[in-house]
Amino acid sequence: MHSSSLLATTLTLTLTSTMAASSNSTIKDNLLFPPPPPSVISAPQVLPNASIEPPSTQSIINSLSLTAFVEGGYMAETDRNPLEIPSPFPLYPATTFSDPNPAEDGPNYTFDPDSYRPGFDPKKRNASTTIYYLLTGAGKEGSGGSPKGYLHRNRGRIIHTLHRGRGRYVVLHADETPCRVESFVVGKNVEKEKVQWVVDGGKYKGTFVLPLEDGEDDDEMVFISETTVPGWEVFDHDFLDRKGLEMLMEGDEEKIRQLEWLVKQEE
Ligand SMILES: *[C@@H]1O[C@H](CO)[C@@H](O)[C@H](O)[C@H]1NC(C)=O
Ligand SMILES: *[C@@H]1O[C@H](CO)[C@@H](O)[C@H](O)[C@H]1NC(C)=O
Ligand SMILES: *[C@@H]1O[C@H](CO)[C@@H](O)[C@H](O)[C@H]1NC(C)=O
Ligand SMILES: *[C@@H]1O[C@H](CO)[C@@H](O)[C@H](O)[C@H]1NC(C)=O
Repeated sequence: MHSSSLLATTLTLTLTSTMAASSNSTIKDNLLFPPPPPSVISAPQVLPNASIEPPSTQSIINSLSLTAFVEGGYMAETDRNPLEIPSPFPLYPATTFSDPNPAEDGPNYTFDPDSYRPGFDPKKRNASTTIYYLLTGAGKEGSGGSPKGYLHRNRGRIIHTLHRGRGRYVVLHADETPCRVESFVVGKNVEKEKVQWVVDGGKYKGTFVLPLEDGEDDDEMVFISETTVPGWEVFDHDFLDRKGLEMLMEGDEEKIRQLEWLVKQEE
């Protein structure tokens, strides 16, 4: 499906107007997105420790009962629509396309209820689910948590709404050949940043916290709500691994270098 074609990959960059100035680049310097603060790149891949967050971030975590999440950051599911719909998705779990055993994990897969939440039936989905999601701290002193959300993919369509903070989203359109790379800033300055954005199923997305604009006084964070339609299930979720990134970027070393720090390391 993702043949390593020698055709040059077309890159479509969606950068906000402020970022356009920094995209004045030679071919060699053609960054997929302006580099984040070094503290974000070098952030350890550990689950965040709420006890080391600054007070106003800690207050969000406590008030909304957020817990550490495997994608990086904190989350809480706030709604699971009781309306059940037939699943529009395959009856086998989403696995990254670098999966060495597509036969076992594909259509011949046998459902193992013990691997999923009690009562999960692969033939059904809740009509929607909604979560809070919080990434914290791009290296400001006193911040702890996880400033990056690792590249991952869902089968469902996800509607995101920003509550606080500023960050960058990177979307890899894995369902297109060649894979288009998109990048945009989410933040409260609606003239040039997004407060609402939609990522369709089948695309990998990663996120990282950006410093606030001058004059904004708040903890560094990306604090959002996400509504997934149909409802979120781990069955429909996969992380992008290093091999998968190489396949998607068709071996383009420069793009791989710019994105690999958003890949969750295997445990
Ligand atoms: C791009 O770079 C050139 C050469 O350094 C400079 O003259 C030009 O003003 C720059 N354009 C923008 C939009 O920054
Ligand atoms: C996380 O918090 C606990 C409890 O306060 C503390 O003992 C531990 O050292 C912290 N871990 C890190 C990595 O900061
Ligand atoms: C949908 O969500 C409800 C909780 O709101 C749950 O009891 C039910 O099992 C879910 N249905 C499916 C198909 O997962
Ligand atoms: C599923 O199993 C059958 C029988 O073993 C095999 O012929 C077929 O190729 C498998 N399908 C896939 C997609 O691996």
